[in-house]
Amino acid sequence: MLNIDLTGRRALVAGIADDGGYGFAIAKALAEAGATIVVGTWPPALSIFQKLLERGKMDESRQLSDGRTLEFEKIYPLDAAYDTLEAVPEEVRTSRRYADMGDFTIAGLAQQLVADYGEQPLDIVVHSLANGPEVKKPLLETSRAGYLTAVSVSAYSLVGMVQRFAPLMRPNGAFVSLTYLASERVVPGYGGGMSSAKAALESDTRTLAYEAGRRYGVRVNTISAGPLASRAAKAIGSIERMAEYVANNAPVTEPLIATEVAHAAAFLCSPLGSGITGTTLYVDKGYHAMGMSTEVGSLL
Ligand SMILES: NC(=O)c1ccc[n+]([C@@H]2O[C@H](COP(=O)([O-])OP(=O)(O)OC[C@H]3O[C@@H](n4cnc5c(N)ncnc54)[C@H](O)[C@@H]3O)[C@@H](O)[C@H]2O)c1
Repeated sequence: MLNIDLTGRRALVAGIADDGGYGFAIAKALAEAGATIVVGTWPPALSIFQKLLERGKMDESRQLSDGRTLEFEKIYPLDAAYDTLEAVPEEVRTSRRYADMGDFTIAGLAQQLVADYGEQPLDIVVHSLANGPEVKKPLLETSRAGYLTAVSVSAYSLVGMVQRFAPLMRPNGAFVSLTYLASERVVPGYGGGMSSAKAALESDTRTLAYEAGRRYGVRVNTISAGPLASRAAKAIGSIERMAEYVANNAPVTEPLIATEVAHAAAFLCSPLGSGITGTTLYVDKGYHAMGMSTEVGSLL
């Protein structure tokens, strides 16, 4: 039988702080396929995430289909806005939420992975993180600082991660990130430069696929996922209405669930996806193919 077998592989999933987002669903799918999961969590969200786990609040969602439980081999603090500790402003490094975290930068995480698991600790890297402090503002009202933060955290972070994690990957390594249709079509309400960040992420996926493919033999893909009411997406404000609109107007009308995106991610990162790199894969019930709302006219 053709199946996805990731036994013996280790995946780093960057961007999990609860069980409601795409990162958690992808970690679960990769574990279902047999992979071992390590997590990178944003320092300000780390202790809440650990408490949720310790208090059993995620026990139900951690159940795998074969009776096992999703385990995280290790949870590392990761602030993907920073490449090295020297680049972190003093006030951040010494602040209450960061002071005891050690080296929470991308380079720091790479060093810790090597210290914990040896020179080639990884097979899969999932980039499932984004932040746009001015996401509720139209682009027309977005400040330079807000725009640059959105692009830094949500797009450059992938570049930084490929730079530092690709050399640590065993043969046939794969990266996958999450993008959104607002990169190429106007989605009112997805502001603050987040649409620009996603456009950069998709373009960088192509260039990184070429450069890191040639240099390190890894694959780099991104999934353009439909709207999901995750913690991050709730910051946009109208996420439930966006999901409902997509469900009403997509070719396939059952609401998209995170598991569908997670299964596509597991496939892309598995040997079954070995011929695919540099791609933006739509997992949105086909909504991206539509040109007009079905309210306007339908022959069906
Ligand atoms: N939810 C949607 O509708 C939707 C649609 C398409 C794409 N996406 C993308 O999916 C990815 C995951 O988002 P989600 O919606 O599942 O929400 P989520 O809240 O599960 O994930 C976002 C994560 O990013 C983390 N994060 C924020 N800033 C960070 C930083 N500087 N360093 C490290 N981590 C940081 C947050 O702590 C959070 O854990 C994002 O790239 C998002 O843009 C989401």
